[in-house]
Amino acid sequence: MEITVFDDYQKLSAAAATLIAAQIYQKPNSVLGFATGSTPLKTYQYLVKFHQQQGLDFSKIISFNLDEYLGLAPNHRQSYAYYMQKHLFGQVNIKQKNIYFPTGNPQCPQEACQKYQQHLKELGPLDLQILGLGANGHIGFNEPANELNTSTFIACLSPQTRADNARFFDSQKEVPHYAISMGITSIMQSKKILLLAAGTQKQQAIKKALQGNITTQVPASLLQTHPFVNVFVDNQAADLLT
Ligand code: GLP
Repeated sequence: MEITVFDDYQKLSAAAATLIAAQIYQKPNSVLGFATGSTPLKTYQYLVKFHQQQGLDFSKIISFNLDEYLGLAPNHRQSYAYYMQKHLFGQVNIKQKNIYFPTGNPQCPQEACQKYQQHLKELGPLDLQILGLGANGHIGFNEPANELNTSTFIACLSPQTRADNARFFDSQKEVPHYAISMGITSIMQSKKILLLAAGTQKQQAIKKALQGNITTQVPASLLQTHPFVNVFVDNQAADLLT
């Protein structure tokens, strides 16, 4: 793991976008794994800027998003599909047919998992997976558990995750209880991983993920066993690291 501590969120985001852009320049048809949440927002703003000002080309990029809330259609304002369109995909020249998401409102959730997994099998492994970090150490929606799911699965969100994510909804009641998430094996099979964490609320999680025991109770700690992980943290999130 290569850990870099940045003075602030702005610098972290600029560096993250630069790393992603380098991947795209190096391999224009990269398969990229994207995350949602607050943390990568500024990174995506920089990527949009690189596209608009320097012509960073997404036309051959294939994208897979980590997860989607179950029960939210792609045009729902809190769906991750909507988030990605708004903050990145709708502002760059990625082809809509190259965007892969678990379906948020499928007739049969199990089938939706299988379909997404099949796409990952056909087009993967991911060249670069971008990850945020849950305050309880989750990645994607792989929540702390005695065993983790290897392939795409229906995730039951923990009370903490639902409370943490309530800020995006009008009330906590509206936060879905379930999501479809990429499994831990697909994440770990990515050739490279970029983990981002910012803010004091991530101090404990980053400490456990990077310097704690490797345990499924802290899913991000499994990243310690991956050969190519860049961890970008800001000063606040890094406060407990030794
Ligand atoms: C959600 C997402 C994760 C994300 C995490 C952290 O639960 N499923 O993929 O990494 O939140 O989000 P934030 O960056 O908003 O703290």
